[in-house]
Amino acid sequence: MRLSPRIEGIGESATLALDARYKALKQSGVDVVGFGAGEPDFPTPEHIKEAGIAAIRANFTRYTAAGGIDELRTAIADRLREDQGVRYEPAQTIVTSGAKHAIYNVVQALCAEGDEVIIPAPYWVSYPEIVKTAGATPVILECRESEGWRIDPERLKRAITRRTRLVIVNSPGNPTGWIGSRDEMQSLVDLANAHDFYVLSDEIYSKLAPPKTFVGPATLPRATDRVIVVDGVSKAYSMTGWRIGWAIGPKPLVQAMLRFQSQATSHPSSVSQKAAVAALRGDQSVVRTMADEFEKRRRLMVDGLRRIPGFTLAEPKGAFYAFPRVSTFFGGKVGNVVIRDSASFAETCLDVARVAIVPGAPFGAEGHVRLSYATSNDEIQRGLDRLAEFARSIERPARSTPPAIHG
Ligand SMILES: Cc1ncc(COP(=O)(O)O)c(C=O)c1O
Repeated sequence: MRLSPRIEGIGESATLALDARYKALKQSGVDVVGFGAGEPDFPTPEHIKEAGIAAIRANFTRYTAAGGIDELRTAIADRLREDQGVRYEPAQTIVTSGAKHAIYNVVQALCAEGDEVIIPAPYWVSYPEIVKTAGATPVILECRESEGWRIDPERLKRAITRRTRLVIVNSPGNPTGWIGSRDEMQSLVDLANAHDFYVLSDEIYSKLAPPKTFVGPATLPRATDRVIVVDGVSKAYSMTGWRIGWAIGPKPLVQAMLRFQSQATSHPSSVSQKAAVAALRGDQSVVRTMADEFEKRRRLMVDGLRRIPGFTLAEPKGAFYAFPRVSTFFGGKVGNVVIRDSASFAETCLDVARVAIVPGAPFGAEGHVRLSYATSNDEIQRGLDRLAEFARSIERPARSTPPAIHG
């Protein structure tokens, strides 16, 4: 069958594919530990669920405005003002079916063939694919583990061309847990002004960051009309299945997204929109409670991984992932299976150790694997024990003597 060339070049989401395999194994009764999922294991808080139920009972089940109900757009602007101290009008917000959809809409509204979008690596798997759906070109900017994955302004400057239209930043970052400093964010905003491009700030993990660590680029001097904030309820309020996200930014861009959305998906679920209002207007201590729990789990995961010989790890500062390097195992064997790369490492780990992890390659960082610690302490400990056993079972190739360096 002949498909559109734009769609032919797009891969399936590696994280969703792995999650599907993990869920199928679990459903068939296999005892498998899941470190693959990018979603909190907590239930959606009661008052938010009740708001959804009340919306159904009140027959709030019809079409809404394409950009979302006014009540929610106002709640989004108010929450951003309260959390970050920046003022936006409700008309500068658009409600979408999840943050991924908001990113998709921004890229569709802003980018076209010939445009370049700079994506710091490691990156969330969907960014390059979303850019390709618009016919634009992803330009990958390598960040270094030895530098804590920070965005080096000099290297960023060298990646900028006349075609640069957008830079996508994600702090706290999936998969590395990097949190951008004020200086990093300010130089990004300054470069955006100097070279006339936009910054998409994906802030989906920001509410879960340790207090006073997250710096929103929209709050910085000279950010007005340069920064587009994307966020949603998925991670902070444990609402991944409700599918509510949003974008906030310059009015003409939001209006373009609104026109596009009105022809594509109309609007996000009416019931979910009401639940999202309850999330944003309700007691915010539910977010802090989950964030504190993630903090404890982070310690357990980081300390446990560092105790496994062969795993090396730059400490994640936020989000809920660890992204260790496992390349010392490459070339090793488990039985007859050769571990060649991060994909075969993750696959063998699932087959042999029954632990679901995600290879680093789809995040633009071969040599690493991603482990989500959005699961219970007992599961984390069980998974760590299995990983240690798995690492021990890999027959590693004898280290060759490094060549002598002359001169
Ligand atoms: C960095 C990042 N952005 C966006 C999303 C998508 O969030 P949503 O479920 O609201 O579409 C995810 C989900 O894993 C993510 O990790």
